[in-house]
Amino acid sequence: MSASVNAPKKLLIFGASGLVGSRITKAIVQNKKSFDRIAIFTSPNTVQTKGEFIDWLKGEGVEIIQGDATNAEDVKKAYKDIDTVISAVGRNAIETQVEWIRLADQDPGVQRFFPSEYGTDIEYGPKSIDEKPHQKKIKVRAAIRAAKNLDHTFLVTGPYADGDGGLYFGTGRAGKEAGHFDVKNKEATLLGDGNLKVSFTTMNDVGKLLVLALLHPEESRNKALKVNSFTTTDREILSEFEKQTGGEPWKVSYTSVADLEKSEKKAWEDGVPYATLFTLKRIWAEGGTLYEKRDNYLIDGESVVDTLQDAVARSIKVQTA
Ligand SMILES: NC(=O)c1ccc[n+]([C@@H]2O[C@H](COP(=O)([O-])OP(=O)(O)OC[C@H]3O[C@@H](n4cnc5c(N)ncnc54)[C@H](OP(=O)(O)O)[C@@H]3O)[C@@H](O)[C@H]2O)c1
Repeated sequence: MSASVNAPKKLLIFGASGLVGSRITKAIVQNKKSFDRIAIFTSPNTVQTKGEFIDWLKGEGVEIIQGDATNAEDVKKAYKDIDTVISAVGRNAIETQVEWIRLADQDPGVQRFFPSEYGTDIEYGPKSIDEKPHQKKIKVRAAIRAAKNLDHTFLVTGPYADGDGGLYFGTGRAGKEAGHFDVKNKEATLLGDGNLKVSFTTMNDVGKLLVLALLHPEESRNKALKVNSFTTTDREILSEFEKQTGGEPWKVSYTSVADLEKSEKKAWEDGVPYATLFTLKRIWAEGGTLYEKRDNYLIDGESVVDTLQDAVARSIKVQTA
């Protein structure tokens, strides 16, 4: 690890056009005055298929580096004149980061690596190490901690308070029994008795808080930063949805944590694609996002975050778009 902390100035983003990566990239672009250089590393396929986003980035002065993320020479070339790497790659590419970290550690200019975290604290408690969805991220953390010349920040956010398909404030891609909020049909499935507390971050806030972590390099150095937008319960979320959709009560059902656990077990046995979501929902329902205090204060991120009202309003827009 480096002895002194320099402010991140020259950024390279992996996964820039993804679900959360696009929010992170937009937040960085909105703060471009704080940085000397912003580049993204992406595939020729993304440049072709996401032309509008790429053109917008170019218009904002972001450099588009095209290459093969599994080719060490391409990645080494992209690291030239970069001091900070931010990864927001999807779950299918988490392990690829181990090599990017090795290469970053060898690069004389790269000082800090933000791996693709933006979710549950994978080191929350003694059980965390055995959770299936955490295994790849655990390997990535180990690779970073073993690096000799590289600082890191793990941005831990808990579930996203957003209404897109598979997200907590959405219609429930893993099936209604894993919990859902369906604006069009005014129905919801709450976990447990609906009063379990969960700590959430909106995707917009993930971007905002990541920028604040960059702007507070000392405070965010070599830490799992546990940030959030707010902590709430399914009942409070439902009540806000009801309020913002005309005030009528929604149709409500419940899934006990024991039933969620049964569905989770079956999903893994059957090899269904959303088994990971069942496990994450069970971890969240069990309190795996709750901390004595959040770390927002370390990076001036206390008063800038979204409220439950903001999150529900945005989720209604997304679901009714
Ligand atoms: N807290 C939550 O509720 C929650 C929900 C979802 C995800 N997450 C976490 O957020 C992080 C990002 O997930 P996401 O859903 O935003 O990701 P995503 O949209 O599925 O993918 C993000 C980007 O990863 C890159 N990518 C995909 N496959 C790749 C490959 N084989 N090699 C190299 N790059 C590849 C692509 O980059 P380009 O843009 O360059 O094409 C893609 O846009 C993950 O760590 C995930 O666990 C958390």
